[in-house]
Amino acid sequence: MTEELQKGLEGVLVAESELSEIDGDEGRLIYRGYGIEDLAKHASYEEVIYLLWYGELPDAEELDSFTDSMVAERSVAEDILDTVGQLAAADENPMAALRTAVSMLSAFDPDADEPATDEDATLRKGRRITAKIPTILAAFARMRDGDDPVAPREDLSHAANFLYMLNDEEPDDVLAETFDTALVLHADHGLNASTFSAMVTASTLSDLHSAVTSAIGTLKGPLHGGANQDVMQMLKEADDSDRDPIGWVENALEEGRRVSGFGHRVYTVKDPRAEILGERSQELGEAAGTSKWYEYSTKIEEYMLEEKGLAPNVDFYSASTYYQMGIPIDIYTPIFAMSRSAGWIAHAAEYVEDNRLIRPRARYTGPEDQQFVDVDER
Ligand code: COA
Repeated sequence: MTEELQKGLEGVLVAESELSEIDGDEGRLIYRGYGIEDLAKHASYEEVIYLLWYGELPDAEELDSFTDSMVAERSVAEDILDTVGQLAAADENPMAALRTAVSMLSAFDPDADEPATDEDATLRKGRRITAKIPTILAAFARMRDGDDPVAPREDLSHAANFLYMLNDEEPDDVLAETFDTALVLHADHGLNASTFSAMVTASTLSDLHSAVTSAIGTLKGPLHGGANQDVMQMLKEADDSDRDPIGWVENALEEGRRVSGFGHRVYTVKDPRAEILGERSQELGEAAGTSKWYEYSTKIEEYMLEEKGLAPNVDFYSASTYYQMGIPIDIYTPIFAMSRSAGWIAHAAEYVEDNRLIRPRARYTGPEDQQFVDVDER
């Protein structure tokens, strides 16, 4: 047994997986062997979920039947929507609201008590969870603004239906396709912190709702999924203060703060997802007649590379992309969860196939041989 401390489990191999692979030095990401650039360009989010869960891309018939089965699960029980409304009224953090609502879904899931090792039941639950997250999230975002939730439609894609439920307006093709691409790009990413958290929960043979709830709590942190909204806050603060965005970044670095959207545990070069989302952000800016957010972003990217040798990660360009789509800033991280649920579920199901309880150790550095003293004598 190794005695070398691997803080943050950096580089430690804990499992075998056929799901996704990151080459951090080449800036390459694949899902089951398919390059992320190809999937972003040619595959829908539904095809990518199928690929991750069932091992191969669906043919047309399989895709239709899988899509129908997801669509059929979009609506959410009234009791859950009531709870979501209460959370919205209490001004709950959107990720916390999503965590609570996903946990509650198990009360209404006919397979809730099926063991984690029953792969079919796990994937049925996975389908329900993934299909319902957009409905929960759109309802939350609307209800906190005093608007009624919008019921899901059956004739729209996963991506388009979310934007429709959020805005009560069918998105145009550009918005729907851009959002679909963002979902494809975020669907899986090796053993990132939230996926690992889902796997740890699954490894105890707990249920899928628990695994996904653990993962949502983990994604919420600013070092992980929370970074995308921090990026947009940064861009807006720089804009509001009429300061060159570089001034904002210089100041942050001088104060020893991290610049969200930069750096990565695995990538040493630019995250390929940032490359693709950067293009989308630019296109949206050009279509709207102002490339301000994209230009701010590229200036910061150049500066960070020169000064710190750090390249952007996926969160850097998803921020300006979502902003230009009119999505509220604090919904960016829940959107990450909406997509990543596909990867969490795939990894949880894959891991329990050859399960081993995940249980590392800490090197004990506390005192030894303490003498117990009774409470009123301390
Ligand atoms: N801004 C400024 N400096 C950064 C930085 C950032 N975003 N990310 C890393 N660094 C610096 C660290 O300060 C450290 O410098 P030092 O060696 O002089 O102390 C060095 O780069 C290595 O960072 P480290 O914390 O060891 O990397 P990590 O693998 O633990 O961290 C992240 C990876 C993602 C947590 C980190 O890059 C980060 O905090 N990024 C901002 C949050 C973010 O965008 N998260 C989304 C990830 S997809």
